[in-house]
Amino acid sequence: KTTLEDTLLASIRTIPDYPKPGILFRDITTLLGNARAFRRAIDELVHPYVGLKVDKIAGIEARGFILGGAIAHQLSAGFVPIRKKGKLPHETVRVAYSLEYGLDEMEMHKDAVAPGEKVILVDDLIATGGTAEGAVKLLSQMGADIVAACFVIDLPDLGGRRKLENLGVDVRTLIA
Ligand code: PRP
Ligand code: HPA
Repeated sequence: KTTLEDTLLASIRTIPDYPKPGILFRDITTLLGNARAFRRAIDELVHPYVGLKVDKIAGIEARGFILGGAIAHQLSAGFVPIRKKGKLPHETVRVAYSLEYGLDEMEMHKDAVAPGEKVILVDDLIATGGTAEGAVKLLSQMGADIVAACFVIDLPDLGGRRKLENLGVDVRTLIA
């Protein structure tokens, strides 16, 4: 019997030295292109939240948009994009963050989440957790109630999961 973990692991490919030398890049485009793997990943990510009140899914650019859109649809929630700086047209809140292979800034529209709204944060992967931590800061600043943060892949050696859990965020990942 093939387990969910087998299906997902078999559908993800690893690219050495991308985007920088020494990085082993876990590429989920092959998972997204596999109808069965994509559906199973989304079903598994939404499972704990079906029937609960979730107002918004916040997706992190770029692969968090794809997963987050599908999850928002399944949970009948709205979708909020968290983007690299300079991409959003209206007034934003901005935060600097570091990730496994660099430094950047991300933004969210100021009016994207109302205080007290229940939000689930979504991305494809958590490595150092710097990106997700930045997103948690933006959502917290706007008064969101962060129900959970969900990722397909955890890279446990990089400590991101622990970093988020230390901020009091419930973290859900499908494979490590
Ligand atoms: C990747 C990934 C996460 C982040 C994880 O995105 O999709 O967003 O890095 O790393 P961290 O846990 O160390 O912060 P990337 O910044 O490569 O951007 P992209 O989606 O635009 O390719
Ligand atoms: N894949 C996608 N994003 C990432 C990775 C990876 O392997 N490492 C850090 N961010």
